[in-house]
Amino acid sequence: MDQSKPLYTRSIDIPSLPSGMASIVSVASSDSATADDVANAIMLDPALSTKVLRMANSAFYGRLTKAETVTQAVVTLGFSAVKTVALAASVVDHVLPETGVPGLSWQSFWQHCVATGAAAEIIARYLTGSRRGSESAFVAGLLHDVGKLIIARNSSEDFGKAVWIASGTNGDMRFAERKVFGTDHATVGALLAQEWRIPEAIGRPIGQHHDMNPGADPMVLAVSGANLLSKAMYGGYLTDCKVQVSAAEVTRACGLEESALQSVASEVPQRLSECGEVLSWAANMPEGGALKAA
Ligand SMILES: [Fe+2]
Ligand SMILES: [Fe+2]
Repeated sequence: MDQSKPLYTRSIDIPSLPSGMASIVSVASSDSATADDVANAIMLDPALSTKVLRMANSAFYGRLTKAETVTQAVVTLGFSAVKTVALAASVVDHVLPETGVPGLSWQSFWQHCVATGAAAEIIARYLTGSRRGSESAFVAGLLHDVGKLIIARNSSEDFGKAVWIASGTNGDMRFAERKVFGTDHATVGALLAQEWRIPEAIGRPIGQHHDMNPGADPMVLAVSGANLLSKAMYGGYLTDCKVQVSAAEVTRACGLEESALQSVASEVPQRLSECGEVLSWAANMPEGGALKAA
């Protein structure tokens, strides 16, 4: 394939907000939603209720009291935590990959997303000196590459071409997606966040996580740094490409000093080990096998 000119074989359709998600989105973005509103919105979707309950009782929240019902989960964890994680679970449910893509492991992709969420939560705490907003940082990290899922659902075959190009360019998916689709996953993710009315605190980092703007807000810096840190610590998800990321790139992306970054990195494995429940959301993601030339 001639890599010098764009292919632009296909434009990307952004799916409209699924009807089943409307009520969870509306409580997630409302400041006046009550605990009952949040529990009721979750309980409209039995699969989501199960996920929320399992999350509530998992090591992720580290609570000793077990929640037996969604209402109890909302009360013990706080509805801000529950509505954010419920929103993430619902988004993921609606964008799960349908087809394997040669040269890419969806399981490793999800591992990258969860590690990015865990790292973003920790970096945000270092940047702001507070735990406020840590659920949003986690979910923004978790969903930062959601645009890739949308692109792959539009055309897994053309997405495979982007994977092939990226595998030869140190895993630069943004470059490869622009070649093939004339747009990239950060732009597509931001459009999805807008279309699905995902709160700004989550939508902005999705759209800006590759911008490397030192003046960006802490949530964007946290997710930008976490994306690179998670690749440095756990590798990427292209099966034929070992991505190289330096500590200097990570510090530049998130604005932390190298010593603070080392402390962040030492906390990530423990947090990731508490994310088993979120990792299990990828249980049915199809694998694509070996890289194929486009
Ligand atoms: Fe990305
Ligand atoms: Fe990423």
